[in-house]
Amino acid sequence: MRILITGGAGFIGHNVALYLRNRGFEVVVVDSLERSSPYALRRLSTYEIPVVNSDVRIFDNYEGFDIVIHAAAYVSVEESIRDPVKYFENNVVSTARVGFECAKKGSKLIYLSSAAVYGEPVEIPVKESHKLNPKSPYGLSKLMSEQVLKQYADLYELKHVVLRLFNVYGPGQNPAYAGAINSFIDRLMEGKPPIIYGDGAQTRDFIYVIDVARVIESFIEEGSFNGAVYNVGSGEETSINALAEKLMNVLGVKIKPIYAVERPGDIKRSSADISKLKEAIGFTPTPLEKGLREALKAFYGGAPLND
Ligand SMILES: NC(=O)c1ccc[n+]([C@@H]2O[C@H](COP(=O)([O-])OP(=O)(O)OC[C@H]3O[C@@H](n4cnc5c(N)ncnc54)[C@H](O)[C@@H]3O)[C@@H](O)[C@H]2O)c1
Repeated sequence: MRILITGGAGFIGHNVALYLRNRGFEVVVVDSLERSSPYALRRLSTYEIPVVNSDVRIFDNYEGFDIVIHAAAYVSVEESIRDPVKYFENNVVSTARVGFECAKKGSKLIYLSSAAVYGEPVEIPVKESHKLNPKSPYGLSKLMSEQVLKQYADLYELKHVVLRLFNVYGPGQNPAYAGAINSFIDRLMEGKPPIIYGDGAQTRDFIYVIDVARVIESFIEEGSFNGAVYNVGSGEETSINALAEKLMNVLGVKIKPIYAVERPGDIKRSSADISKLKEAIGFTPTPLEKGLREALKAFYGGAPLND
């Protein structure tokens, strides 16, 4: 089976590419390389995964791909608030293009959406039926992308599935756009205190990038592409303070965090209801501490993740 991954030289894309390649799939990556890391490119090259250097807004060579995983996007909430037009232009137009090419060629599309489409949850854990009220242009660009694909399913019979990812962690995140886990690790490894924005009581649902790859593999193997939407999280709600504690346990260090001003666009609580996903593919998430240990080994110990 041939698989194309857009944004496949980014954090999630390259981990998924490596995982699927190791599972015997033929994988090709298309990426503008604008926000990919040298670490991701090195790993793709080690596994001899072809990388096409192109912006997906103009790329049109979809011939022969059974599945397209659309991961290409700009992903910073903060940057999107500073420069919203850039986010709509890139994220929405990319999806409009990728989706249309898939519909024309009959490729099945797996769209990596985001929990950011929910905004500040009013019911926890968040179900897929929760009200959609994104707080940032980034979140809105992901929601608009979902809507574009839904329309393509109606107009052109696009076969697709939408995965709303919660906070993904693992090796190879671009430091400029990395979430709490990677920035905590980087600072703790240098003996510096982690910086927590706000009081640290805010919660997130952290999901290991290899779990995301496992979910994608299940959809490739057995999922239906009827436009359904699934939360992809761990189902566990963890405060940022608790996360810092856990990471320090794993690393065997103890440093008092520094608290800084809360960032615009940040939500107070987040936790995924993953019962729909479990029912569809029988998924069991990796516990946070185990995932953190594995990710650290891969990133700092040099071991490939799924060997
Ligand atoms: N990281 C998370 O926690 C998270 C959570 C929810 C959803 N997501 C979604 O997962 C996807 C991947 O996120 P990531 O964290 O790996 O981000 P990333 O920035 O590491 O990777 C995105 C990749 O897309 C590429 N790209 C961006 N625009 C492009 C374009 N127009 N054409 C070609 N390539 C382009 C970048 O160069 C980069 O390599 C995104 O769609 C994001 O919205 C991520």
